[in-house]
Amino acid sequence: MSERSVCIVTGGGGVRIGNGICRVLAAKGWTVVVADQDLPAAVAVAEEVRGAGADAVPMALDTTDAGSVRDVVAATVREFGRIDALVNSAGVGLRKHGADATPEEFDRVHAINYRGPWTCIREVLPVMLAGGGGSIVNIGSVHAAGAAETFTLYAATKAALAALTRGIARDYGLRNIRCNIVHPGAVESRGNEHLLADFVATKQMLPTAIESDDIGNAVAFLLSTEARAITGTELFVDAGTTAMLFEQ
Ligand SMILES: NC(=O)c1ccc[n+]([C@@H]2O[C@H](COP(=O)([O-])OP(=O)(O)OC[C@H]3O[C@@H](n4cnc5c(N)ncnc54)[C@H](O)[C@@H]3O)[C@@H](O)[C@H]2O)c1
Repeated sequence: MSERSVCIVTGGGGVRIGNGICRVLAAKGWTVVVADQDLPAAVAVAEEVRGAGADAVPMALDTTDAGSVRDVVAATVREFGRIDALVNSAGVGLRKHGADATPEEFDRVHAINYRGPWTCIREVLPVMLAGGGGSIVNIGSVHAAGAAETFTLYAATKAALAALTRGIARDYGLRNIRCNIVHPGAVESRGNEHLLADFVATKQMLPTAIESDDIGNAVAFLLSTEARAITGTELFVDAGTTAMLFEQ
């Protein structure tokens, strides 16, 4: 069995948030399974992590396919003998007024943002329970807590994910499973710098652009033993967006 703690990060190949979570966790000593439906992206993140002297392996994963999730869980157990943590970061956006979305769009955003995390939790839990416990962090959004025009269905999936987080924490807390959710604000990534400058100026309390490592640091804290008394909670990493009543 691996001596290091092992964490599966879904959507770990992501250019905005996923890569930051993997980088930070690996730098803090975790073995990270970078699991993504975009395998080349997962390979690139795992190579970057290994290049920095930390530990990561890429795996192909489609969170909407229970068989694919089972394969990743089985491969992780085969390779490392343990799963200590799961981060559900894979997600997609949808920008439409609520009633304008098609049933297919409704199903897709729910399948990836809500059912996917549930499937991953469902498949990973037996391994964690057999190992004596574990920690799960879901990636939500500020949209779980307030309405913004055209984010209606996306927001609904993230609010559902927050409720799922509390429920899992309640159902399995006595068996040493912690489950929390991180709600990112607008995260800076290549290509959105100009858009983000306006957002930072008008929709944040802090003048600081949020980076993917800021999300990674929050996730790493919640997974760590320093957070051993924290479960069922929501952590906003949003530079004050959610708590701000009026825009300038
Ligand atoms: N970027 C932001 O500003 C922001 C803000 C709030 C919340 N979020 C949330 O953060 C998470 C990461 O999103 P992001 O926009 O930063 O993207 P990201 O760049 O981190 O990439 C998301 C990754 O998920 C993968 N993915 C998508 N569907 C998948 C599936 N079914 N199975 C496996 N992998 C899949 C994609 O291939 C991609 O690599 C999402 O849950 C998103 O809702 C993002």
